[in-house]
Amino acid sequence: MPSDSMPALPVSPDSAAAPSHVAANQDIESTLRENRVFPPPEEFSALAHVKSLEEYEALYAKSIADPEAFWAEAASDLHWFAKWSKVLDWNLPLAKWFVDGKLNLSYNCVDRHALGALADKTALIWEGELTLVDESGVGHSHIRKLTYAELHVEVQKFASALKALGIQKGDRVAVYMGMTPELAIALLACARIGAIHSVIFGGFAAQAIADRVNDSQCVAIITQDSSYRRGGEIPLKTTVDGALLLTPSVKHVVVYQRSGTPVYMQAGRDHWWHELTAAADPVCPAEPMDSEDPLYILYTSGTTGKPKGLVHTTGGYSVQTYLTTKYVFDLQNPNHPNDVYWCTADIGWVTGHSYVVYGPLQCGATVLMYEGAPNFPDFSRFWKIIDSHQVTIFYTAPTAIRAFIKWGDEHVEKHSLASLRLLGTVGEPINPEAWMWYRDKIGHNRCPIVDTWWQTETGAILIAPIPGAVPTKPGSATRPFFGIEPEVVTREGEKVPAGSGGLLVVKKPWPSMARTVYGDPERYQKTYWSDVEGCYFTGDGARQDADGYFWLMGRVDDVLNVSGHRLGTMEVESALVAHPKVAEAAVVGRPDDLKGQAIVAFVSLESSVTAALATASGDSVANLAALKDELKRWVAKEIGSLARPEEIRFTDALPKTRSGKIMRRLLRELATHGSIQGDTTTLEDFAVIAKLREAEEG
Ligand code: PRX
Repeated sequence: MPSDSMPALPVSPDSAAAPSHVAANQDIESTLRENRVFPPPEEFSALAHVKSLEEYEALYAKSIADPEAFWAEAASDLHWFAKWSKVLDWNLPLAKWFVDGKLNLSYNCVDRHALGALADKTALIWEGELTLVDESGVGHSHIRKLTYAELHVEVQKFASALKALGIQKGDRVAVYMGMTPELAIALLACARIGAIHSVIFGGFAAQAIADRVNDSQCVAIITQDSSYRRGGEIPLKTTVDGALLLTPSVKHVVVYQRSGTPVYMQAGRDHWWHELTAAADPVCPAEPMDSEDPLYILYTSGTTGKPKGLVHTTGGYSVQTYLTTKYVFDLQNPNHPNDVYWCTADIGWVTGHSYVVYGPLQCGATVLMYEGAPNFPDFSRFWKIIDSHQVTIFYTAPTAIRAFIKWGDEHVEKHSLASLRLLGTVGEPINPEAWMWYRDKIGHNRCPIVDTWWQTETGAILIAPIPGAVPTKPGSATRPFFGIEPEVVTREGEKVPAGSGGLLVVKKPWPSMARTVYGDPERYQKTYWSDVEGCYFTGDGARQDADGYFWLMGRVDDVLNVSGHRLGTMEVESALVAHPKVAEAAVVGRPDDLKGQAIVAFVSLESSVTAALATASGDSVANLAALKDELKRWVAKEIGSLARPEEIRFTDALPKTRSGKIMRRLLRELATHGSIQGDTTTLEDFAVIAKLREAEEG
């Protein structure tokens, strides 16, 4: 963030000098020192589920002393068709939670409320990005609301429609949609009949969709004609059509009509959502699912190879998403019956699964969903939404907060924001100054902030403050959730002293942990359960301070975090190498004020291309610039625009160890500082570095 766009903030003397919150990826060294502490506001604590630090500590101690009893008690809040016979069956790395229990997450999200006291409570409030203009030319916000009773009807109709297509329990169904109520309905309908959904973020390109669909052999894709973003139309069905050329397993495509823009519909394969549901049975009982039946697959990036399809199962995931939502967001709180909860994440990511759909609906909350961009039609869209729907709980990403800061306080200050009582962040470490801005400008120093640390793999929050109880420190995710035992250790698995950096691991299984990588249990074991013996390894570096607070320091592996989205360096490299002009590529992340990390790609070209460029007529700088643009567009086309490199640097060769491993650390330093300070003794060819430096200077 350029300092001139940063509002003046109260800075304690110690933190003024605080450098980056993300430590060097290789040497886990903690550099952040932040001393501000904010106790929960008294008015908040008085009405919260957990009201004091002592209460949190007592509950935490109890949950750790007997985690199975703790989780069993939480599970009892939900509806089970048959009770479990055993809470946990643990045989590292294989966990079974609530063994033999039978339940249905769609039932717990919808039926339980629709058939009970909350039938007429609003379950979903949806706001479209575009304004609707009426006959007299007056513009209105495009809003749809569904009560729990209405949601119940819609979910049953769509579940019946899926069944009528022949989709059965255990079938995999891909979902590629924009943020519409139908997206939530699609998930709940799949869960209802036991189909395993695999949501693919709407920003992914055809090839990335096809890879995911093929990996889990999806039999159907649910999509929509197009969605809206920043006023433009995103042609989702057309992109799916491209993927469908490569996905023989797909027998049916269901298309929700959002925009009405004509799309190609293949007879027999493609069906309109509204036509299927009009003909569908409005009654579709929820299928009793085994606790360990798969609920969904969600693909995420790892260090090597193609994205991994993490598999989440039913019972443990239901219980932990329910309980974390209740305690971390203080939902289902009888003192706050009119809460309106808004998590800005797209349902294409795990945050949207757990904290837009499954967690809050299990809590019987009113959930707000917004279709579009925060800066459309202007920079104050989010604040307008908060005021007009009286949002009380707001959960967003640090990258968004940094953008709000950049856009200027005037867009925020026009709005009251008086309805807010709790704020949250997720997805990446939040820098203390952004945290302070959030607290001041959005929370008016009255709302606690919950910085929630977790991952696609963990399914639910593992580290976050319980807002009425745990004092917060800007930039720290604070203390573990009940039943969770994280630790910071050396590579050998020894606990590091307070204040030192190390690897973040989790020592015991937890209910919502992913059970496997789809089709590749070995990869699951190898990636998460072999680095530190007996522990789940998160891939993150962290330190714990003397008060037991966790400070996340970013990834210690080659996973990038761009605007809170995970991308493997390998994925971008593979896309680049697939371009006919590219011989080799190495991708690294460079710290970026707005996005957290920006992608820098070092590319060596095929020698014929280099030769042709050297002899080409015209401006060689312009030729190179055109090629860089071509490669950036190529990556966006292959993976999606979220993976588009910020910068491409051409180089004759890449620095490698003698064993042939690309030395990304050197490239990272070069991309960040323009120079290399570290140890280069394992380098194969020192001249490469000199050339890279020249390329950088030239
Ligand atoms: O590096 C951590 C970072 O995001 C990674 C998980 O990414 P993903 O699976 O896409 O899930 C994101 C939403 C849960 C983590 O390994 N991360 C997530 N939350 C935080 C965070 N880093 C620091 N602080 C957080 N609160």
